[in-house]
Amino acid sequence: MELNDLYRDVILDHNRKPRNFGPLDPADASVEGFNPMCGDRLTVRLKMSGDSIADIRFEGEGCAISTASASLMTEAVKGKSRREALELFDRVHELLTNDDASSDELGKLAALSGVREFPARVKCASLCWHTLASALKAPHPQAVPAVSTE
Ligand code: FES
Repeated sequence: MELNDLYRDVILDHNRKPRNFGPLDPADASVEGFNPMCGDRLTVRLKMSGDSIADIRFEGEGCAISTASASLMTEAVKGKSRREALELFDRVHELLTNDDASSDELGKLAALSGVREFPARVKCASLCWHTLASALKAPHPQAVPAVSTE
């Protein structure tokens, strides 16, 4: 499948039917992300089991790319350890910003590389990932201030 087709199909599918969308109560971490370019916000909530992400859900109003990226992210990181999820964050960030980045073994996340064609939308796709990363890095995630993609 061509990258453009993959990009379009995956983004449309995950925007129409976002996975893991909705509240998570109780949550061990709840962090709000903010895209200053458009004012859109989304909240990522985590339930941890030891050092692993037992459950993750998101809520918010965003564009198709931010919603699809968050949906893909929740599928990809559920069950992963904190370190594995942060490594994935680094790979996706690379994928969104570097034309030479490899998408090997990224599965459906590879579709996000299509965002490179639209530089103004990179912040849309990375919003949820920055939000997740700050939740995972914070010693007391309930107290994390809203994360900006700037
Ligand atoms: Fe606001 Fe994409 S336009 S997150």
